[in-house]
Amino acid sequence: MGNKGWPVLGETIEFIASGFTSQPVSFMEKRRSMYGKVFKTHILGRAIIVSTDSEVNKIVLQNQGNTFIPAYPKSITELLGQNSILQINGPLHKRVHALIGGFLRTPIFKATITQVIHHSVQLNLASWSNIQLLYVQDQARKITFEVLMKVLMSLDPGEDLNSLKEDFEEFIKGLICLPIKLPTTRLYKSLKAKERLLKIVGRIVEERKATMEIRNNNNNNKERGVGNDVVDVLLQESYDSDESRRLPLDFITGNIIEMMIPGEETVPMAMTLAVKYLSDNPVVLDHLREENMELKKKKMIDNLGNCTWTDYMECLPFTQNVISETLRLANIINGVWRKATKDVDIKGYFIPKNWCVLASFISVHMNEENYEKPYEFNPWRWERTGNTVNSNMFTPFGGGQRLCPGLDLSRLELAIFLHQLVTKYRWIAEKDEIVHFPTVKMKRKLPISVTSISMT
Ligand code: HEM
Repeated sequence: MGNKGWPVLGETIEFIASGFTSQPVSFMEKRRSMYGKVFKTHILGRAIIVSTDSEVNKIVLQNQGNTFIPAYPKSITELLGQNSILQINGPLHKRVHALIGGFLRTPIFKATITQVIHHSVQLNLASWSNIQLLYVQDQARKITFEVLMKVLMSLDPGEDLNSLKEDFEEFIKGLICLPIKLPTTRLYKSLKAKERLLKIVGRIVEERKATMEIRNNNNNNKERGVGNDVVDVLLQESYDSDESRRLPLDFITGNIIEMMIPGEETVPMAMTLAVKYLSDNPVVLDHLREENMELKKKKMIDNLGNCTWTDYMECLPFTQNVISETLRLANIINGVWRKATKDVDIKGYFIPKNWCVLASFISVHMNEENYEKPYEFNPWRWERTGNTVNSNMFTPFGGGQRLCPGLDLSRLELAIFLHQLVTKYRWIAEKDEIVHFPTVKMKRKLPISVTSISMT
């Protein structure tokens, strides 16, 4: 059931218009009330089946039997490499996903990255007291890009990082655009930026390979290092004893760039929206500050040094609830697109071969059947329900085969940012609005003015 709307345009105009309102889910809600939880529509150039049903979404994400493959708009597939983790399927996808996820879960990575994030946030926040009006969205992007470059390539702030940031910003402008490749078009400029990115990252990967070879020769290839970053982890796979399993250098270079896409926009937007929601909800902010001040004082009195991964992830329960509530309400990734490779029946809904399915997370997160008063920013709701990733009702990081490997890293970055922000500063936010299309952003980048808090 559903409506295909106008020829060619389908229901795209209404879909985009809803993205500019304070209730972007209204497009989905209207159709759900008319046609049921799973319905057909025609948006962004293709006919799709939209699922607003958490159980159907779960089955699509789990993808048992490999029925579904990722399906992105044409401009995105043009810009992603054929071998991108975001596009590949089957055993190779499984292997690369496990390698990255496994690395991000190692205790050594967790310990090191906690200190890296701590210092990056500390350094950036230290400059805030000299700025009269600062833009949270820009500041957050600066912090998270530095962290991402460390995670992927152990890159320190400097010339390479600045060039990468500039070219990457140019590159992602083309992710949602008209798929026309002519010298003046957006897509063309983005492809050119990608060529520059490939050059810089390719050089870094080759230099690293040379260093790794020297190290391997010195220890007669006996030891396999743990790996300091994602480049290391993937490079180690270029030495597999089975030649057919070796990952080529251009595969590694391309994937490092592609991994910047899900990592770059999402965390800074979550940080920015957390500040927005806290500015609008002073009672929550007071509670958050109290919890974080308590931990900070305890660390100081007991002379325990900086907070650890466990402190942030396990000893600040209210802070983690603020993060969950931010992720639920912000819907930074509002859903995922898949294409059925064969006819499939889910809970009585028939999805024909080659049809696209949009598993809509925002529809689940903003449904009052699932969340009481869903438009309220209420971190206390998580005290009752917990925030396990297995819940079908809470999927900001997706689920199943492609569950975001950056899940804990994102929560950690958010926790460190919030901890330092609320224990160091009070702020007043200027009026601003959230825009939801093509991606979630603040209209004015969220301007705030800050004053320091002195610890006594
Ligand atoms: C608040 C922050 C973040 C959110 C909301 C988020 C959300 C998501 C979602 C929904 C997916 C699933 C996409 C799909 O099923 O097609 C995903 C995948 C992915 N994310 Fe994240 N992400 C975040 C941060 C990060 C970070 C910091 C990294 C980098 C380390 C990262 C790396 C990835 C990668 C590599 C994938 C692809 C996984 C695969 O297809 O196997 N994400 N993310």
